[in-house]
Amino acid sequence: MLPNAIVWNARTGVLELLDQRALPGVERCVVCRDAEEAAQAIENMTVRGAPAIGIAAAYGVALAAPRGREAVVAAMERLARTRPTAVNLFGALSRMRSRLESAPNEALQESLLDEARRIHDGDVEANRRLGRHGAALLPQKAAVLTHCNAGAIATGGHGTALGILRSAREAGKTIQVYADETRPRLQGARLTAWELARDGFDVTLICDGMAAALMKGRKIDAVIVGADRIAANGDTANKTGTYMLAIAAAAHGVPFYAAAPRSTLDPSLPSGAEIPIEVRSDQEVRRLFDGQSVPEAVKIWNPAFDVTPAELITAIITEDGVFRAPYRFV
Ligand code: MRU
Repeated sequence: MLPNAIVWNARTGVLELLDQRALPGVERCVVCRDAEEAAQAIENMTVRGAPAIGIAAAYGVALAAPRGREAVVAAMERLARTRPTAVNLFGALSRMRSRLESAPNEALQESLLDEARRIHDGDVEANRRLGRHGAALLPQKAAVLTHCNAGAIATGGHGTALGILRSAREAGKTIQVYADETRPRLQGARLTAWELARDGFDVTLICDGMAAALMKGRKIDAVIVGADRIAANGDTANKTGTYMLAIAAAAHGVPFYAAAPRSTLDPSLPSGAEIPIEVRSDQEVRRLFDGQSVPEAVKIWNPAFDVTPAELITAIITEDGVFRAPYRFV
């Protein structure tokens, strides 16, 4: 059994997050007692993955309720400054803001918690639905390559890209998974490989630079990735390296699917050019493998996400079905 990545402890009134920084070596949780601790957990990637940070932020807002409405508004502003790319965060905060407007003072926390739970449960439900849509696209025996971690721990549960694999297995299909290690933070190696192995999948890890050779040398039936923000025209932001994978998939005739709940769509942006891309610390690249791996004199560019142009995406799979180009999300 996988541990839940996000748990509201109703007995103690705190948010418990699986510490994704410590995996796969250590399974421990980080307790957030107020909105600031929740914001820091998102920033430092204790919790990560687009839907998961939206859910964690929603509970973070509820944590501010005992200090009153003004504290709740301040908490929302703080949480909105944590990570810029995944639109799920802003969607969740906007739902919490609407709920705040209608919540009675005497039941402020109860009401905000109710909305946070709905966001959480709604995400699991969306993932199960998109999982079934995606599973139907895979052959009876499928080898699938994925990037980063778009699994149960990156969401409210079940997962998006990995949710499709789970749903395919539930439907009786045999699934072999290849996971990119996903530099620089190794979400593929540390999280996806851990999550899938823990769940009994046949999983093989490759370095990111091996993906094209894998597609050429072995039969890969599909590449399936998650997403952080999808523009109206289908351009899709996801973990850095996804774009390169889509180019390799197109060159080898391998279908390339992006899987995401509707909460990841941002129809207000006409194209991927408008998606804000988080640039993270050079230290993530410079200090890989517990020591210095890059000379200090060398500059580093570390965008955490890239944008895959819609024309490289065979289909976008959401809870509402399978969408193909031309994408026109509203
Ligand atoms: O920086 P991260 O680990 O938050 O990036 C996560 C990803 O890019 C995932 O693929 C995406 O959020 C989808 S999670 C279902």
